[in-house]
Amino acid sequence: MADGTPATADATGARLIVDLDAIAENYRIIRERAPGAQVGASVKADAYGLGLAPVARTLVQAGCRTFFVATAGEGRALRTILPDAEIVVLNGPDAESVAIFREAGLTPALNSLHQIDTWRGGGIATPAWLHVDTGMNRLGLGPDEAETLFAEPDRLRGVGISTVMSHLACADESGHPMNLAQLGAFEAARTRLQALTGPVRASLANSPGVFLGPDYHFDLVRPGAALYGLEPQPGQPNPMRQTVEIYAKILQVRSVDTPMTVGYGAAHKVAGPARIATVGAGYADGYPRAAARRTGEVMHAHVAGHKVPLFGRVSMDLITIDVSELPEAVAVPGQEVELVGPNATPDSLGASAGTIGYEVLTRFGNRLHRIYRGGSA
Ligand SMILES: Cc1ncc(COP(=O)(O)O)c(C=O)c1O
Repeated sequence: MADGTPATADATGARLIVDLDAIAENYRIIRERAPGAQVGASVKADAYGLGLAPVARTLVQAGCRTFFVATAGEGRALRTILPDAEIVVLNGPDAESVAIFREAGLTPALNSLHQIDTWRGGGIATPAWLHVDTGMNRLGLGPDEAETLFAEPDRLRGVGISTVMSHLACADESGHPMNLAQLGAFEAARTRLQALTGPVRASLANSPGVFLGPDYHFDLVRPGAALYGLEPQPGQPNPMRQTVEIYAKILQVRSVDTPMTVGYGAAHKVAGPARIATVGAGYADGYPRAAARRTGEVMHAHVAGHKVPLFGRVSMDLITIDVSELPEAVAVPGQEVELVGPNATPDSLGASAGTIGYEVLTRFGNRLHRIYRGGSA
């Protein structure tokens, strides 16, 4: 379909409801937390799986002017949605993608001397961001490359630098010594760069970085996760609004007793008479298979306000739940089951599956029927 919705996603399967007003509200909350800075938005990976176009339109309406994507291809897609925004491509340019940057008016994050040379060779006038690595050791100019650049400023000839950025490795642990160490290294790098280029903007904080306080805000903050409701400070009350819910229907209910088993691998043995409901969603919809029974922990779904345990393995398209304790009138085919929502956040589901809420969001399946509430879908 023209909007990128897969042809297999329709109302016959599970539903993903995305609350765009909650995303706009989360943008407002971040603005309040970082009053001295501009608030950009990370919308890479299809806006963390929630849908690039509706999310980007909602955020622009909420006042966002700078957007972050990972690849030039994502940037090109976003340009068709937002003709005027600053679109920063975090992975930077290479020989093949420079043409896309030019055509779509994309801003690169220059992460290495090689990328600086590539960008200079492309002769594009758009000012770039310069990413200096302050301890993440992932992307950005490391200490040696930064020294070379400061010693050979001609390498930036013809390249306009609008902004210097770095990325925090441990911002979700507020007391971690890396935070202060990276802050110091970033300030030092900014000072040395500005001696070459004159004033440039600075950007350091992702979502958890915003919550480390004003020292980390600089001119522009770059939240993603918090906009989508993920907890910015694990272990503390989450100030963000939840943005996603997934509901699937009960397809079938059956009675089981010993010595039977349920599901693949005959992995779950029935301990006594029970009623099992089969629900129409599975790992192909993004429900983590590992959530079923990790280290003996029982994952729960919610049916009409009742908390019920999962039973047996999560399969591709189906989940089985124990509805023995539910009123018979509730556990019937057609009844909606909450798999993600007020009772099971992406963060909690991720923790049960040995991963993080980020991965849960970005793995929501193509088959889910997406419904957007509020905002500017
Ligand atoms: C460089 C950079 N900035 C900002 C973000 C947004 O981070 P978060 O989703 O934790 O707010 C990311 C995401 O990984 C990133 O790689």
